Amino acid sequence: MKIVVVGGTGLIGSKLVNKLRERGHEAVAASPNTGINSITGEGLADALKGASAVVDVTNSPSWEDAAVLKFFETSTRNLLAHEAAAGVGHHVALSVVGTDRLLESGFFRAKLAQENLIKGSSIPYTIVRATQFFEFVKPIADFSTVGNQVRLPPALFQPMAAEDVASALVGFATNSPVNGTVEIGGPERFRLDEAARRDLAARQDPREVISDPQARYYGVGLSERTLVPNDDARLGEMHFEDWLNQSTKQAPKSASQPA
Ligand SMILES: NC(=O)c1ccc[n+]([C@@H]2O[C@H](COP(=O)([O-])OP(=O)(O)OC[C@H]3O[C@@H](n4cnc5c(N)ncnc54)[C@H](OP(=O)(O)O)[C@@H]3O)[C@@H](O)[C@H]2O)c1
Repeated sequence: MKIVVVGGTGLIGSKLVNKLRERGHEAVAASPNTGINSITGEGLADALKGASAVVDVTNSPSWEDAAVLKFFETSTRNLLAHEAAAGVGHHVALSVVGTDRLLESGFFRAKLAQENLIKGSSIPYTIVRATQFFEFVKPIADFSTVGNQVRLPPALFQPMAAEDVASALVGFATNSPVNGTVEIGGPERFRLDEAARRDLAARQDPREVISDPQARYYGVGLSERTLVPNDDARLGEMHFEDWLNQSTKQAPKSASQPA
């Protein structure tokens, strides 16, 4: 199958492109870096010729309220219009578990606008809502840092490896459209503050993580279950501890390096 991965040079996109190619599919990594731009439309018509599916794993360069809304609306409209013109029969988009519970944030209002444009279009679709990536735990901690302290609420949290997100997307992109929303998450559920504490400890980062029920998540007040997926979510395989061990282990020194 020819599958166009828009955002194909990003964290999820690059893994998805590799996995599709390993399985013998023709995967096109579409992004401004490869001359294909979902905002300006540059390169889209050529890229989409003969494609069976388009997977949208783009992200906005700016998360400022107006900019992120403009990005996801413009990008999604352009993709859907080009897909209709090229006869593409499946639009897959990566969104976030709990998007409709996080609307105090401009980023999530933009993701909901993206989802609604897809649902309102004529293109058969699958919206895949994922929980936070393991790779995103440190950025969450960084965003919530003041001085040497990280304040996070003890909300339930079920993050997953980017690798597992990409594997799930392979399955959705190469199967029939669901014409609905599916959820994916990690294999374990713990607390947001605990995840940040474990992540920073594994990196020997001296910041102190404080459990604070009043602390906000990107400006949003969380309840116990805001970030957790539905009971029927498909779960990834990789455990946080294994991922931390892998991603924080020191690269072995080469022979030419001083000991
Ligand atoms: N972070 C999380 O925990 C989480 C959880 C669930 C879902 N998600 C969603 O997952 C998606 C992908 O996230 P990610 O972390 O993989 O993103 P990322 O690493 O930031 O990659 C973003 C990609 O979008 C591309 N892009 C930017 N502007 C574009 C344009 N005008 N036209 C085409 N491509 C463009 C970038 O291309 P260049 O490299 O050329 O700039 C890059 O390939 C996002 O929509 C996000 O909302 C994230």
